[in-house]
Amino acid sequence: MTEVSTPTMTPSDTVSLGGRAARRELLTVLGCEPIGPYSLLRLERGGLEPGIPGQFFMLEAPGRLLPRPMSLCQAPPGELAFLIDPIGSGTRALCALEAGEAMHVLGPLGNGFELEVERPLLVAGGIGIAPMPYLSQTLGQPPAIVGFRTEAQAEAARALLPQAEIAVEPQLVTDLLRGDPDDVLACGPEPMLEAVRALVPSAQLAWEAPMACGYGACYGCVVERGQRYVRLCIEGPIL
Ligand SMILES: Cc1cc2nc3c(=O)[nH]c(=O)nc-3n(C[C@H](O)[C@H](O)[C@H](O)COP(=O)(O)OP(=O)(O)OC[C@H]3O[C@@H](n4cnc5c(N)ncnc54)[C@H](O)[C@@H]3O)c2cc1C
Ligand code: FES
Repeated sequence: MTEVSTPTMTPSDTVSLGGRAARRELLTVLGCEPIGPYSLLRLERGGLEPGIPGQFFMLEAPGRLLPRPMSLCQAPPGELAFLIDPIGSGTRALCALEAGEAMHVLGPLGNGFELEVERPLLVAGGIGIAPMPYLSQTLGQPPAIVGFRTEAQAEAARALLPQAEIAVEPQLVTDLLRGDPDDVLACGPEPMLEAVRALVPSAQLAWEAPMACGYGACYGCVVERGQRYVRLCIEGPIL
């Protein structure tokens, strides 16, 4: 395994990650609104930096021992917003939060997308749309294609990424990958990412793995990539 240093938590609730600092703070919930089957959880930003699009935060769901990793979806002034798919106990608890409640958040963590790109094309599948609104805003609303299983899920693209071309199954998002796309930045389920990589080997891909700490300490997110093992939380999630 490649030697990568393990960041440490300091008493001041700051994680030092090779010069970049992630903070853990108690943030107040501003609101949690449904968008199709997903929820947009809006938090007061406090002293946390929004970071680079594609980086993620560990959100401590009420009553759950382990925090859940979430990509930053939007970063309006003074806020951090996360788009959450309620697929299990932790995400359901996060989606049930109400304005005025407070929760601990740690971040920003991991490596974001490389933003020095000439002709960006955003590609997302399902809840992989989550980091795209912040990425789109940062890159000046480049073209985007997004795929969903259902029309209800596609509401998320209509609300949060209005310039996106949408594919709903049986049409696949890769059916919309035409011509010779230069700089593909993608997030979505693993089979979609593999299909995108097969078509555009240079694509930047946002991968997922179960994560317990988010900063290199637990080894819960180790995946095999290119004949070596990586901790996705500190070497990724963008690879
Ligand atoms: C870097 C990163 C960014 C993410 N960003 C978002 C986001 O913006 N919005 C969002 O809704 N979700 C996001 N996720 C996924 C989210 O963290 C998980 O869905 C969540 O942790 C599940 O918690 P739970 O308690 O609801 O479900 P659990 O009860 O823990 O799990 C439900 C099911 O999902 C599987 N599962 C859980 N976590 C993962 C995972 N990370 N990868 C693959 N399978 C998993 C479990 O094995 C189980 O089958 C992200 C994950 C990562 C690693
Ligand atoms: S989540 Fe703990 S090492 Fe990556």
